[in-house]
Amino acid sequence: MEVKRVSIREAKKRIKNDPELSKMLVRSGWREIALDLDGDGMADVSFSSDSVGRKIDTIAIDLSGNGEFNLYLHDFDGNGIPDTVCMVQDGGEEEIVAFGGEVELGFVNLGVRTANLLVAEDFMNRELGLSLADLAAYLKMHAAVMLAELEKRENAEGIEKVYYFLDDAKTYYLATTDGTKPRVRPFGTILLRDGKLYIQTGKSKDVSRQIKGNPFVEICTFMNGTWLRIAAELVEDDSKDVKTAMLDKMPTLKAMYSADDDNMQMFWLKDATATFSSFTAEPEVITF
Ligand SMILES: Cc1cc2nc3c(=O)[nH]c(=O)nc-3n(C[C@H](O)[C@H](O)[C@H](O)COP(=O)(O)O)c2cc1C
Repeated sequence: MEVKRVSIREAKKRIKNDPELSKMLVRSGWREIALDLDGDGMADVSFSSDSVGRKIDTIAIDLSGNGEFNLYLHDFDGNGIPDTVCMVQDGGEEEIVAFGGEVELGFVNLGVRTANLLVAEDFMNRELGLSLADLAAYLKMHAAVMLAELEKRENAEGIEKVYYFLDDAKTYYLATTDGTKPRVRPFGTILLRDGKLYIQTGKSKDVSRQIKGNPFVEICTFMNGTWLRIAAELVEDDSKDVKTAMLDKMPTLKAMYSADDDNMQMFWLKDATATFSSFTAEPEVITF
């Protein structure tokens, strides 16, 4: 499926240049554009991004006709194809639509507001190159893979659980010591390979020098009411295939590093103690 993703800014420009679409514009912000497709004064479809200036990653559609968005298509990994489809049910509960059998992709068969949906589809097709039929075919094809992946993440244990949490949280904070002083900074690189959890940095950075001086570090991150703290010793792994695996997993790193640039540095966490904590449950400690 070909998908052209545009930024909110570009989409706004296109809408403003199109007399028909500009009449439908009911909201236009830094991170969101909302359109009234059927002329009843209420927004039927909204395009948004999670931060200012980014490409559209969420499309919300009002299928119920009550003026509230109840279908959300999210594209988390930025490939232009929605990764999750959420329905907000009566009472505000958000649910991932069960793909397949019972609901036949949920939104496709809902039929509640077919006309709206078709106009929304037409818009998505024209402006974003996205059609619901393509989307349905894609989801059907990948539903099993997606559900298996979700299940894997939910049931993960041990080092895998720690890895998925860090991966989903996207950002964690790495604390090192500089002589007697603590230092902390945001990090995001994470790789699970051959049973080891790796992070990545550049030899030119202070953080690298500090790890050399004292390899005992702590990592902390927080997501959905749970925080994770890991104490470990960092051990350098200079092998090219680990670096290549890291670059393949997070291709944006390729703009700054390469496997043989003599700067890229990989560390794995040795003798790690990872503690998941929350205000509502007993801490869970995982060592690896
Ligand atoms: C969200 C986010 C993720 C980051 N991830 C990394 C990373 O994985 N590795 C890295 O070396 N720098 C990463 N950085 C950049 C470092 O935080 C930055 O270079 C920092 O200054 C390094 O610490 P230092 O100044 O003590 O060397 C990230 C920055 C942000 C904002």
